Amino acid sequence: MELKDKENIVILSIESSCDETAAAVVKNGRTVLSSVIATQIDIHRRFGGVVPEIASRNHVLSIESVVDEAMKKANVTPDDIDAIGVTYGAGLLGALLVGVSYAKGLAYAWKKPLFAVSHIMGHLAANYIESDLKPPYLCMLCSGGHTAVLEVKDYDKTKLLASTRDDAAGEAFDKVARVLSLPYPGGPEIEKLAKEGKPVLEFPKPKYKGKEIYFSYSGLKTSVINFVHNAEQRKEEINKADLACSFQKAAVEQMSNAVEILQKRTNLKKIAIAGGVSANGFLRETFKSVFDKEGVSVYYPQLKYCTDNAAMIGAACYYMIKNDEKPAELSLDAKADVRL
Ligand code: KG4
Ligand code: ZN
Repeated sequence: MELKDKENIVILSIESSCDETAAAVVKNGRTVLSSVIATQIDIHRRFGGVVPEIASRNHVLSIESVVDEAMKKANVTPDDIDAIGVTYGAGLLGALLVGVSYAKGLAYAWKKPLFAVSHIMGHLAANYIESDLKPPYLCMLCSGGHTAVLEVKDYDKTKLLASTRDDAAGEAFDKVARVLSLPYPGGPEIEKLAKEGKPVLEFPKPKYKGKEIYFSYSGLKTSVINFVHNAEQRKEEINKADLACSFQKAAVEQMSNAVEILQKRTNLKKIAIAGGVSANGFLRETFKSVFDKEGVSVYYPQLKYCTDNAAMIGAACYYMIKNDEKPAELSLDAKADVRL
């Protein structure tokens, strides 16, 4: 019997693309038997962002115990595992290589097929966990590295409808947080501060002239930074909460405006949000209030699966198997970029 025809497929998945070392055991793409994350946030915080070399070294220190813990928590042995899925890109090359090398070693030792999973497809698949979402749908992908709208035609087939011309949304949250002297990662800090403020300041957003829909977070980030620096020069107090609230609103409205146009164009009735920024409560509320009507449904990953984790990689790996994708060779390499 082919693996894809098995009634129950149990996957051990590994993720190490940035500053979280993660492993999970996932059954049939939607049931998480365990999900373990060793975060390095506290280590990188003192540098104001992720230091790639330090990230790689800490993945090396954690990977074995993280995988062991995921197997123990799921109460499985290598015999119960049907396949191993690992993030091969996009991400920090040295960090990715730790997960890829470890997964290759396990696949060889345990004689299991190894699947090379895209981190981006993983973020999308976070929406399948304990949910009924099925393609086709429209996905607003917003993470630290990517900001794009994808038409998800099938589990393994997407069409890029809009992407950022410069920075990713998460990057803008992190940079704005830094200029407000908030710790890394900035997204959750901005969200917290914004709750105490009002959106009284206007910041630029893309003005679409032709058919092309796109995002631009560099101009928004620069306007916020200029605002802070001008106030400092004039020795004026700034209301940080109002600034955070206004920035967050401008950042989120870019996404809801773009998705509004693309939803009308595609007439897709399901909209999902994915990536680290999808943890943002204001983004979630905005999408709910703009779209959750007239027969359109909005889906979000559970909060614990928004930012980097391995359960989403296990979910994506399941659909690769179901869609007949071939296992990777043991010569598999990591890639800093993957195509959207
Ligand atoms: O998906 P992710 O964990 O890593 C990448 O694949 O890039 O996303 C991390 C990004 C960071 O920029 C972080 O600041 C942002 O997601 N983020 C948030 C929130 N939680 C995480 N941004 C806004 N609001 C949040 N609550
Ligand atoms: Zn990510």
